[in-house]
Amino acid sequence: MDSGSATWAVRNDKTMKLEPIVRHVARNPKPPYSSPPMSVRPTAPPDLLAARRLISVDDLSDADIAYILDLAEHYAGYLRRSDPAPKRLTGKTQINLFFEDSTRTNLSFELAGKKLGADVINVPVAASSVHKGESHVDTAQTMAAMAADVMVVRAKDEALHYELDDVLPCAVVNGGAGKTEHPTQALLDAAAIRSEFETLDGLVIAICGDIKHSRVAGSDARLFARLGAEVRFVGPAHLMPDDDQFTVVPRIDTLKDGLSGADIAMGLRMQFERMGDGAEDAARGFYDEFGLTHETLKLAKPGARVMHPGPMNRGVEISGALADDKELSLVLRQVFYGVPTRMACLDALLTRGE
Ligand code: CP
Repeated sequence: MDSGSATWAVRNDKTMKLEPIVRHVARNPKPPYSSPPMSVRPTAPPDLLAARRLISVDDLSDADIAYILDLAEHYAGYLRRSDPAPKRLTGKTQINLFFEDSTRTNLSFELAGKKLGADVINVPVAASSVHKGESHVDTAQTMAAMAADVMVVRAKDEALHYELDDVLPCAVVNGGAGKTEHPTQALLDAAAIRSEFETLDGLVIAICGDIKHSRVAGSDARLFARLGAEVRFVGPAHLMPDDDQFTVVPRIDTLKDGLSGADIAMGLRMQFERMGDGAEDAARGFYDEFGLTHETLKLAKPGARVMHPGPMNRGVEISGALADDKELSLVLRQVFYGVPTRMACLDALLTRGE
């Protein structure tokens, strides 16, 4: 086992200390594929979500993570049975403020809040006063003044969530921040992995492709390592994070070596919109060398699964046939877990487990 720490500079010169990324070499024997039974509501740890926000994986204690994943599995049971969930957020107001496009995150947060009884508003940013020049902070403060209890924010500006946390009277949840963090995606990915492998402890997880521009990679690497997985970044040098970031995560520049011994190959979307003029060059030859297909998945451990947070570029980072493979692909399972995981996050943040 080795350990270390890294710092991750974000815009506005804010620097967050990262948890050590720990690599576990040992691998538990593969457990049977089943969801852990979670029919009884888990007990909240003392001082649940003491940070009173969810902007980074680092806002979560180990006990918070364990509780949220167990609560997500508990709520997943309601969804599977089509049972109404307890209306624990009745009277609460949830604002979804997405300055960047979203399908999965925005709509699953909406569904999550509604299932728990909250009043949920999706701010129609494209038709809002942002286009009259109102700043993002003023827009958020305006929405918060409507007695909001929680605001889910997606923005390109990686410092905005912290700025809002300082000025808003409500809890701030990160629904995606530039290239840095997407903590609820990491939690739902972990929930989906647990539903397949029972635990992340000892798993080898290869995060493949455009790591440089991916907020999912940042949050996944930090969360998975804390849950005991060995995390690797796999891709060409030009799609790797800067040298001073994630210094303890191994970087592997061939799929053959990167997938060797892996339980999970996590594909990432090629984030063309963040590449500027280099977009065409970044994609050239990528699929031939790093595309996840039925053939390349054979480089991983027998029984390995493929994941992708979406949206996918079929034929760029993953083949459509593999993405749609009902046995090998967990892509739609990830989408499913988005709702109960976000229910768990909202519940934990707004009820503090009471
Ligand atoms: N995975 C993800 O964040 O998807 P959306 O951009 O559709 O929310």
